Amino acid sequence: MTSLPSGVSRREFNGQQRLATRGDPIGDEPTTNGWRAWDSATSKVAAMLDRDMAIGLAPGQRVLYLGAAAGTTVSHLADIVDVVYAVEFAPRPVRDLLAVADSRAGVIPLVKDARQPDSYAHVVESGLDLLFQDVATREQTSVAIANRRFLAADGRLVCALKARSIDVTREPEAVFETARAELGEAYEILAAERLDPLHRDHLAVVARPRPNDEHEG
Ligand SMILES: C[S@@+](CC[C@H](N)C(=O)[O-])C[C@H]1O[C@@H](n2cnc3c(N)ncnc32)[C@H](O)[C@@H]1O
Repeated sequence: MTSLPSGVSRREFNGQQRLATRGDPIGDEPTTNGWRAWDSATSKVAAMLDRDMAIGLAPGQRVLYLGAAAGTTVSHLADIVDVVYAVEFAPRPVRDLLAVADSRAGVIPLVKDARQPDSYAHVVESGLDLLFQDVATREQTSVAIANRRFLAADGRLVCALKARSIDVTREPEAVFETARAELGEAYEILAAERLDPLHRDHLAVVARPRPNDEHEG
């Protein structure tokens, strides 16, 4: 069993043990003694931690998050790490993401398409500790591969692959097998676990980049 990263704890909220980070709450999030509940039913990163997956998260890191949506998971990561580059392209969630960034110095919102890393390469440095990928589209594996360039050699890809967004006509296990093979060209997969029942037909993957001479991407 893996222990939780520093900065993440299990706390009691209304008689229930839940994951929590220390920071300012968003909306009516439950809090206790400076800790805010981190909902593993809505955040795939929280679900991975709840299942004791070793995702490599630690204080002081610099991370890139693709598919930030309204920035809730990003806000919890920002409670722990130094910098979160948060990429999101849909106008509606971007409004909330910008509000999250306004109140957190470590969040750098990028209203960009994660399929086009060149469009933010002038802002995001390379050598990052973690790359989170939660775009939940058909191109999930290619987005993870295209953004590998920002990761340090010993960095980690942490992604939640949603089978039904990749191919709704195939069985999730078959979709995951293809996705793992595709990812395997650029990454060495260290752990892969289904997130059911909290996140139906999602596969959480932790991987490290293969050296550049093995893969050009
Ligand atoms: C499953 S949601 C993310 C949820 C969020 N990560 C969380 O934990 O709260 C997927 C998000 O990815 C965004 N997205 C999908 N394709 C994208 C792309 N190519 N570039 C940037 N954002 C993208 C969608 O607009 C959506 O907000």
